[in-house]
Amino acid sequence: MQLFIDSANPKEVKEMIDLGIIDGVTTNPSLATKAGIDYNEAVKQILSMVPANVSLEVLSTEAEGMIKEARSLSKLGKGVVVKLPATEEGIKALKTAKAEGIPTNVTLVFSANQALLAAKLGATMVSPFVGRLDDIGLNGTEVVEEIRQIYDNYAFETKILFASVRSPLHVKQAALIGCEIATCPYDILKSLVKHPQTDVGLNKFLDDFKKSGQKPIS
Ligand code: G3P
Repeated sequence: MQLFIDSANPKEVKEMIDLGIIDGVTTNPSLATKAGIDYNEAVKQILSMVPANVSLEVLSTEAEGMIKEARSLSKLGKGVVVKLPATEEGIKALKTAKAEGIPTNVTLVFSANQALLAAKLGATMVSPFVGRLDDIGLNGTEVVEEIRQIYDNYAFETKILFASVRSPLHVKQAALIGCEIATCPYDILKSLVKHPQTDVGLNKFLDDFKKSGQKPIS
């Protein structure tokens, strides 16, 4: 499974690249606002560090404007994936983007039917916003399970990108369901490796070795 960082903060992106665990980035203007950085500047910096799988949002609401933006965004780098919203206009734009060979990520997906349409029209990836469904008392992972089943039923090649991740549990659920990708905030990525028993165990190994008076093999 691929892991993306959901961030517009170049420092966070760099740290995760150095850790070696990320395969791409998803970003949007809200994340740039949160990071206190200009969106265009964030995009520029991220693209200079990440060669593939950088999802960038269009900001038009009409298909024609979306396509114009998609063309410009895809010129920014070979690794750009254009995020189109799961609206009627977004779906219309998706058809054209597909015909022009522009990689797409259909975003703001909240139902299996939206994901079905995105796959029918050849989206490269689809982003169900799991956390936001959970926020309103629905079961986000259930929607992802439905999408997985539909895609498997018809051998759709669209990748499922588990988005709006709120906890390490979401990452595990994405992997168990068989999502190709999960995009995670920086803090969640950092938490994936953590387990208190690992720290307890490591400290005990080190203490016991120190008490033995031996030196590490060199
Ligand atoms: O990639 C989607 C993500 O940015 C949405 O996350 O936490 O705002 O629901 P959130």
